[in-house]
Amino acid sequence: MVTMRDVAERAGVSVTTVSHVMNATRPVSDDVARRVRQAMDDLEYQPNLLARSLRKGQSLAIGMVVPDSVNPFFAEVAHGIEDTGFAEGYTVVLCNSGGDLERELVYVSKLVERQVDGIVIVAAGLSSERICDLQDRSVPVVVVDRRLNGVAAGVDSVLVDNERGGWLATQHLLELGHRRIGCITGPFDLTPSAERVTGYRRALEEAGIAYDSTLVVRGDFQHASGFTAASQLLSLPGPPTAIFACNDLMAMGAIGAATASGRRVPDDLSIAGFDDVRLAAFTNPALTTIAQPKFEMGKLAASLLVERIKGADIEPRHYTLDVHLVVRASTGPVAREAA
Ligand code: RIB
Repeated sequence: MVTMRDVAERAGVSVTTVSHVMNATRPVSDDVARRVRQAMDDLEYQPNLLARSLRKGQSLAIGMVVPDSVNPFFAEVAHGIEDTGFAEGYTVVLCNSGGDLERELVYVSKLVERQVDGIVIVAAGLSSERICDLQDRSVPVVVVDRRLNGVAAGVDSVLVDNERGGWLATQHLLELGHRRIGCITGPFDLTPSAERVTGYRRALEEAGIAYDSTLVVRGDFQHASGFTAASQLLSLPGPPTAIFACNDLMAMGAIGAATASGRRVPDDLSIAGFDDVRLAAFTNPALTTIAQPKFEMGKLAASLLVERIKGADIEPRHYTLDVHLVVRASTGPVAREAA
């Protein structure tokens, strides 16, 4: 294996000078820098990052653990983390927990073993005790998207105003004249879904509409559960004229269920989602939804993490970013006969 010493001998400089050229830790003449880089090219030198990380106590790698790497929401958050991580000189290691707590714990442990400098977590249900363990190991952590019950005090977090988003979606449907509005929830143990349902209920209450639990069906944030839940709602004796789904994938499944039942969207049934993933603008009909600032969430989380890694000794920072309604073709006025 080619070493820094081989590069130094070939370039006619010291190993220290090679290190200064590689890490820009001290100015060197253009001629020396050229000779060192030429030697590295000639010898096809690859720096030993593991040795470097042990020597410097940093790996210039950050870990990211998400519950579903196939879901475009997490892909867009990861894009933000990677964009800031790259700009700061960090490699991002993406781990998919699949929503499984045990798998999530395994990944967190492996990332720590591999000396990542910090971790961004979108919790699958990670208990806050685990985050305390990470803190005990002085591994900087930032929690994104999902509030953790009893979250460890010293953890930065980047969330959105889910309750307001649920209210905005439902209020939009109410303004279109809908009174029987169904709701397809995400997993009850995840705070984003619970908070969106709270916003749904608040909008109904403010409109003087009694909460009807038969119009609320549980999903799991995946397309298929949206299809199944919407089919269940549409088979009720008094089916809803509109459905608010707590994420876009379930809303897309609901569109499929409406079509399968011979209904037109939005003429017979309005459907609204949550996330505004890029695909939402290209469904048929294009999906009305609540836009989360996904890329910005990722960038902010990565910035907070890098500050911690670099030793920022400041109180934990908790950001709740705003969301907004994006009206597209999947929602429309309630049909006269149903009003
Ligand atoms: O689509 C996946 C959902 O899980 C998103 O709404 C996001 O908020 C996450 O909680």
